[in-house]
Amino acid sequence: MKKELPPVNEGPRADALDKVTGKATYAAEHRVPNLAYGVFVCSTIAKGTIQSIDESVALKSEGVIDIISHKNCPSIPGYATQLPDGTRNPKQWWGMKVLHDNQVRFYGQPIALIVAETIEQANAASLLLKVSYQKETFETDFNLIRKDLSKAKPPSTYTRGNATNLEQAAVKVEGEFNIPIEVHSPMEPQATIAVWESEDKLTVYDKTQGPKATQGALARLFNIPDKNVRVIVNYVGGAFGNALRNWHNVPAACIAAKKINRPVKVVLTRPQMFNLTGYRPQSWQQLKIGADQSGKFVGIVHHAISNTSRYEEFREGIVNASRFLYACDYVETNYRILPLDVSTPTWMRGPGEATGCFALESSIDELSYTLNMDPVELRIKNFAEKNPESKLPWSSNYLKECYDKGRELINWNNRAQKPGSLQENGWLVGYGMANGVFGAGRSQASVRAILNADGNLVLQSAVSDMGPGTTTAMTKIAAENLVMPLNKISFKLGDSELPPGPTQGGSTTTSTLGTAVYLACETLKKSLCTLAVEYAPAFKNMEASTLLVQNGGVSSTLNKELFISNADLLKLANKPFLEITQDSQGTSAMELKHATNSFSSHFVKVLVNPKTFKVKIAEVVTTADAGKIISENTARSQMLGGVVGGVGMALLEELKFDHQTGAITNASFAGYQVPLHPDIPKTTVWFVNKPDPIINPIGAKGLGEIAFIGLAAAIANAVYNATGKRVKDLPITPEKIRAIKN
Ligand code: MOS
Repeated sequence: MKKELPPVNEGPRADALDKVTGKATYAAEHRVPNLAYGVFVCSTIAKGTIQSIDESVALKSEGVIDIISHKNCPSIPGYATQLPDGTRNPKQWWGMKVLHDNQVRFYGQPIALIVAETIEQANAASLLLKVSYQKETFETDFNLIRKDLSKAKPPSTYTRGNATNLEQAAVKVEGEFNIPIEVHSPMEPQATIAVWESEDKLTVYDKTQGPKATQGALARLFNIPDKNVRVIVNYVGGAFGNALRNWHNVPAACIAAKKINRPVKVVLTRPQMFNLTGYRPQSWQQLKIGADQSGKFVGIVHHAISNTSRYEEFREGIVNASRFLYACDYVETNYRILPLDVSTPTWMRGPGEATGCFALESSIDELSYTLNMDPVELRIKNFAEKNPESKLPWSSNYLKECYDKGRELINWNNRAQKPGSLQENGWLVGYGMANGVFGAGRSQASVRAILNADGNLVLQSAVSDMGPGTTTAMTKIAAENLVMPLNKISFKLGDSELPPGPTQGGSTTTSTLGTAVYLACETLKKSLCTLAVEYAPAFKNMEASTLLVQNGGVSSTLNKELFISNADLLKLANKPFLEITQDSQGTSAMELKHATNSFSSHFVKVLVNPKTFKVKIAEVVTTADAGKIISENTARSQMLGGVVGGVGMALLEELKFDHQTGAITNASFAGYQVPLHPDIPKTTVWFVNKPDPIINPIGAKGLGEIAFIGLAAAIANAVYNATGKRVKDLPITPEKIRAIKN
């Protein structure tokens, strides 16, 4: 029997209408009766102790309900370092314990929370707090401090092969790369509304990428059972990693709400978003790469340092891709973190790899010119047939198809191998490309599927969707599996009371949750077939295994005439609905014999003004091997977003400090530049769209990170092709291009 396929790869995002009409309710927008408003007062020194806080004037300010600081913060179980018996508290709050002590660890650290009847009153009173400090000397200047390696934490190192390979290489290039701090800059700021339903029962509306993770964190903070904490996050207005953990607003709102016995809302201001929700750490990298005359890599040495805060150690995989993206016998990597008196960095789109691939992919490009070889041909020459680090075969790797399509779509034939030799209308023209790679595992998930008597299917899981279109992708997986129309399927997320779903991060949601949805549909189909045999007279005595669920009912593979709709079947079985809950395991439980990664290859055409060195991105072709593409529209949007982020990283973004005070000097969109519409060129997205046979039954690999990883290098490589000037310090500004002599 021929399957009648529904239009699974078409249609808008499932939540598009809600988002564009304003019906979508974000964390700060929930209406809660008797709500009070909390506003942080932040430190105006970078390091030291708070000597005194004088609240007397602020407390008299209109509408002020309370002012919470370390002076009067209630005792919080999760803030205790030790249990009463003196052993380490295993349920300690992860991160800085806001409002807990008199220590100032970075400039702009929240030191008090003003709680008032209105946001205006809280803001007004926040200016009236008088704070005095004992200042201490501090270090915020990464470029200066990193030169003293004794100040960094001990390195993590990796070596394989023989170093003499690189020493004796026929051709070698070596360079240093600097990337400043970049911040997530989502539209929706971090926001928390905390409501204590009773003494030990908490409901929280929060911007989070992981409702279950936030639930667990708050349960530990207040030493109450998980089930006593409910986290609601219906929509997330962008996150890119900055809602993977709970920042100061979360405990502060909950502590304040408990203290004043009223719901409290804390929303970070835009300037606070530059400082209080993590960021891509600043980094320095050194990369050496050598090849033989034919272009075969003989050695890669990749060293990196990135900053962390003084109070937490944040590490990411900056040097990891250098170990396995290409075939190379000798590889040495070394990665250190350097504590500074700043707030803690965090994962930000393509964490680690985006930084590392800028150095790796820029260096390979440079090597291609030394060899006088096409940079794509050089990469093909060094294609890794299996993962050279783990020695495992790839579950799938279609990078070569990305190269072919990328070259075709960007018109790579038009590229000149000699830099600076191509012009259009008086502008220098350059073509560049670079690759991205990221892990493609999956984790555990649980999904509930409820098939109602009206034939509609509801899927549920406690996840949130920061924007990639999880709802859309999940309904499409179910629609395809059950061969039923999309409009009969809905996906409910955003509530920790639903079956436990994964935190959305690391490009794993589609693979993780999609597997659970797929398996839930499989189970549902089996149940329906069993019900048909049991209750539908026409199917009596048939084998359930010969039945088929599609088009909203059960049919027989043996007799095409037979069909009973799910609705009729449930009626016969006297069931108002059919409900199943399905768990799926993660790749860690699978004993994988394969290396699982997603790959991307980005192709860029730039125009550079020969007098001003202004860079205009003329065109981008971005290609990816992300396995099977579940939802073309939303997957394409991920890739477009990656390009926007890549243009920002390459040309614009840089958080700046005043090292005299330790303050950030450009904590606004006037000072911190992000790409705007005119900065984004015509972009073509192409997917290999071949299912991965190993990672999961749906064939999808991750997509979010590889959309972005490699883009900055592709742009830098195109600028080099246009000008013969290789900028290794991001962002690439006209001043930096001009300063390079060639
Ligand atoms: Mo992300 S950095 O996987 O939120």
